[in-house]
Amino acid sequence: MSIIAPSILSADFAKLAEDIAHVERGGADWIHVDVMDGHFVPNLTFGPMVVQAVRPHTQLPLDVHLMIEHPERSVAEFAQAGADRITVHAEACVHLHRVLHMIREQGLPAGVALNPATPLAAVEHVLDDVDLILIMTVNPGFGGQQFIPHSADKVRQLRRLLRERGRDEVLIEVDGGINAETAPLIRAAGADVLVAGSAVFSETDRAAAIHALRPGGEA
Ligand code: DX5
Ligand code: ZN
Repeated sequence: MSIIAPSILSADFAKLAEDIAHVERGGADWIHVDVMDGHFVPNLTFGPMVVQAVRPHTQLPLDVHLMIEHPERSVAEFAQAGADRITVHAEACVHLHRVLHMIREQGLPAGVALNPATPLAAVEHVLDDVDLILIMTVNPGFGGQQFIPHSADKVRQLRRLLRERGRDEVLIEVDGGINAETAPLIRAAGADVLVAGSAVFSETDRAAAIHALRPGGEA
């Protein structure tokens, strides 16, 4: 499976609807929404009101990535605002299992994200409780950073672990520094969902930028 999820972190916030429509026409599969609180990560973006504002402007699923402390306090609000799936950071959840079930109770697929320095052991005991695992391929907080090469091994190990545990249907998402050079490597390692911010939004031809991330598109 190869899902391309442009991250609106790199879009023009003053014309979000227009930028989202542009990537939708360009063949994007999901819209990745980066929520940052200025505490869990050193950057501040937006909250549920912006999710609610963009919701009527696209048919695509809104893939909400919460880079916030105490995500359990906001899960219901993001769900009501129109999130189609919600991913929380393992590092931000004291009671990860409980938070994942809160997401599922809202009727949404639950995701857990791991920072580059967080071992896969952090998700080993919640494999039955997740629908997606997001492997951060940069330290979260900003767009336009360099892909951390070791991440490909982590994705490979995670794919093996999911197979061994009979949970191969769990999607593996990668986020940070994904471009036409890194996309084939990380896909070969077993990633299903590729998030890309700057690689898509820095190009005027968004359709070509998205195509370049697809299998064979880099050629
Ligand atoms: C990083 C965010 C990413 C970011 C990726 O903290 O979670 O989604 O937008 O940006 P690029 O693709 O530019 O590395
Ligand atoms: Zn993200």
